[in-house]
Order: sequence, then C-alpha cells, then structure tokens
Amino acid sequence: MQIKSAEFLMSNSKVEKCPKDRLPEYAFIGRSNVGKSSLINMLMDRKNLAKTSGRPGKTQLINHFLVNKNWYLVDLPGYGYARVSKSIKRTFQKFITDYFREREQMILAFVLVDCRLEPQPIDLEFMQWMGENGIPFNIIFTKADKLKPMALERNIKAYTAKMLETWEEMPQHFVTSASNYTGRDEVLNYIESLNSN
Ligand code: GTP
Ligand code: MG
Repeated sequence: MQIKSAEFLMSNSKVEKCPKDRLPEYAFIGRSNVGKSSLINMLMDRKNLAKTSGRPGKTQLINHFLVNKNWYLVDLPGYGYARVSKSIKRTFQKFITDYFREREQMILAFVLVDCRLEPQPIDLEFMQWMGENGIPFNIIFTKADKLKPMALERNIKAYTAKMLETWEEMPQHFVTSASNYTGRDEVLNYIESLNSN
C-alpha cells in the first residue's frame, strides 16, 4: 500500500469521543517504550507524526491518524509502566479497555513486544484479556535492528513456544524495525488486504 496522506485528527481519553465516521481502524498497543509511536511514524514514513520519547509514558491519550482519507491508525498509551504489582484492572487503564471493548470499527490490534525480551507476564496477560474479550490481535516484534538474525529467530521461536502453552496457535506476527524500515510493506499490505475485504 502506498501512503498518500497521513494526518493527525484528534486525541482524547473517552471512547465516545473518538471519530464517528465508521472508517476501519487499526490500533497499536503494548508496554510503554516498546516503540508504538515510532512504528506508526515508520509506517507512515513521517518523522514526527506520532510523538516519541526515550522516556516511557510519552503517549497518554487515544490518538487517531487518518490515512489515505479512508482508514485510521490509532496510537495508544503504553501499559505496565511504573506499576509494580497492581492488579490488571489498574495496570490496563480503563479508557484503554473501554476502547477495545466498545470500538466496533477496530478491525485489528497490533500488540507490540520488544524482540529482545523474553515473554513478559504483562503482555501475556494483556493478550489473554484480548482473547477472553474476543478482540482480534496480531503480534509485532519491534526493534529488530537491535538483534542479529539468529538471535531474533531464537527469540521468536521461544515466544511461539510460550504462546502455545495457552493458545491453540501462534497469532499472526510481524517483525519490524522503525530504524531501518524492516516489516513496513508486510504490515501495510496486511492492513490493505483487510481494508479491501
Ligand atoms: P509510550 O508512548 O511511552 O508508551 O512509548 P512508545 O511505545 O510509543 O515508544 P516510542 O515510539 O516513543 O519509542 C520509545 C524509544 O524506543 C525511543 O527512544 C525510540 O527511539 C526507540 N525505538 C522505537 N522503535 C525502535 C526501533 O525499531 N529500533 C530502535 N533501535 N529503537 C527504537
Ligand atoms: Mg507512544
């Protein structure tokens, strides 16, 4: 898919206030600092469309970006930052869980995980919650430029093995790097294929 236009539309903390035009949308979620905003900029080939930061907790609201005037990318706040042992309810902010439960035009969520880390309990819990609530998601392994190919492959295999302890199959997944554009075509073409269904 070619990106002809990408524009920031709005930020808010209430799902009722999100755009009402029923265009399909795709959400990016994951732990703070995993690279959600950077990935959105990479996909859109725009440096500062979504605000990024080396400090976790940069994105605080639900941010809608209108792409090619016919679908939305949604940048969400990270979960799991500076919450040591709070319950899931508190860790996943309510407006985020409301967003996923109520947003019918949300076609697919991409759950981002850092390819360098072993499966993190909070990510597994979040995906469990998505599954229990019937919310479709894929996985994106981010920051692939930080690992050599062999190590990357080993980590994805280990992640898959962990997922298969609780899931019947490994969800569809992508490998990306916002630094060198790895995975850009794969993710965009997948979104395009869903948009044209
Ligand atoms: P919050 O909004 O705080 O939840 O974070 P986020 O998930 O949106 O992360 P963000 O895109 O702001 O990136 C966090 C840090 O990781 C920044 O310092 C980025 O430069 C860095 N980063 C993101 N993606 C990549 C990547 O693919 N490769 C490398 N090397 N660094 C990355
Ligand atoms: Mg962000």
